[in-house]
Amino acid sequence: MEHGELAGKTIVLGLTGGIACYKSAELTRLLIKAGATVQVVMTEAATQFITPLTMQALSGRPVFTSQWDGRIDNNMAHIDLSREADAILIAPASTDFLAKLAHGMADDLLSTLCVARDCPLLVAPAMNRQMWAHPATQRNAATLRGDGVTILGPGSGEQACGEIGDGRMLEPEDLFEALAGFFQPKRLAGRRVLVTAGPTFEPIDPVRGLTNLSSGKMGFALARAAAQAGADVHLIAGPCALATPYGVTRSNVQTAQQMYDAVMADLSHGPHHDIFIAVAAVADWRVRDVARDKIKKAGDADVPTLEFVQNPDILAAVAQLPTPPYCVGFAAESGDLETHGAQKRKRKQVPLLVGNLGPATFGQDDNEVILFDEAGQQRLPRANKASLAQRLIAEIATRLPSRAPG
Ligand code: C5P
Repeated sequence: MEHGELAGKTIVLGLTGGIACYKSAELTRLLIKAGATVQVVMTEAATQFITPLTMQALSGRPVFTSQWDGRIDNNMAHIDLSREADAILIAPASTDFLAKLAHGMADDLLSTLCVARDCPLLVAPAMNRQMWAHPATQRNAATLRGDGVTILGPGSGEQACGEIGDGRMLEPEDLFEALAGFFQPKRLAGRRVLVTAGPTFEPIDPVRGLTNLSSGKMGFALARAAAQAGADVHLIAGPCALATPYGVTRSNVQTAQQMYDAVMADLSHGPHHDIFIAVAAVADWRVRDVARDKIKKAGDADVPTLEFVQNPDILAAVAQLPTPPYCVGFAAESGDLETHGAQKRKRKQVPLLVGNLGPATFGQDDNEVILFDEAGQQRLPRANKASLAQRLIAEIATRLPSRAPG
């Protein structure tokens, strides 16, 4: 949550009646921590689930519940509050509130605010699965989508009523990420992107193996930035303990061979992929004969010898496909990046190679890179991996060949 996309933004957070109100307390905390201003507006029903005092303490601002609130001088809370907002997020959005929104009703402060707004509106439905599946609710959701309202979720899973199904409000972290993504330019709208990330793990025997220090942070940041830019993103990750970015689908693999197989399977399914970003630190070699049982320590002088074979080069193989996606490679060199980066780009036959400057970027939050493409080299300023990923996505988007018509 260290990303800066929401710093300085003003969000009107509307709460309507539902048990998921407790999640909005956490969401408020996340938004405030990210530097946003949060103006909470609650319906009467929402105050039955969480107190305005709680929301006021977390947001650091007075909470409004009534259009007759005397605290705003001109009695125009519905106008004043919406004019200050960069976005209105209704979370939780009840069945009743969705219905009111869909019909443009304005019988309390929050619904009036939504009708009087001149900023984007996002809603996070939260209700029992049958209420969500009800034709009227689905009709209302479709109407809202048609009106340009962004519907976040709902998620699926266990519900407060004990039933299981669609209708749960998204988790606070996901709503936060969705909101952060909402403010990003949609440079990759409609594009399909495949990303590899993290290390690989090459087994020696059932309990031992070879790996490297890649944390996966850069690859995950790129997957997140691509999703925020509107792309349909699939992430193929080696072993790493990072949360899947919001809106990204993920497959986990262990070995380089599994990563290769997963990438090739993905590229051969569905519509053509537009972009392949190979960020994974793939092991160059694997152990030739993986022991079926744990290798026993026989004696002090008896040290096992391992024989290696070459792993497939995933990036080079993708770049050589008959109609490859736009391929982006990464390089971590220990010296003379200028020469090695340019050579590596040519050797792998990729249009863009991102070279990591500095000896140890593995696991760090910051990174500094040089871009190598046909036109030459370009150094990007040092930045945290989240901002750098957004910059790289912008750079990729400008280089992307435009789509063939049809
Ligand atoms: O050859 P080198 O490992 O330095 O190249 C790094 C780039 O190639 C990265 O983009 C990495 O993800 C990709 N790569 C790969 N398959 C390999 C080795 C590297 O996709 N077996």
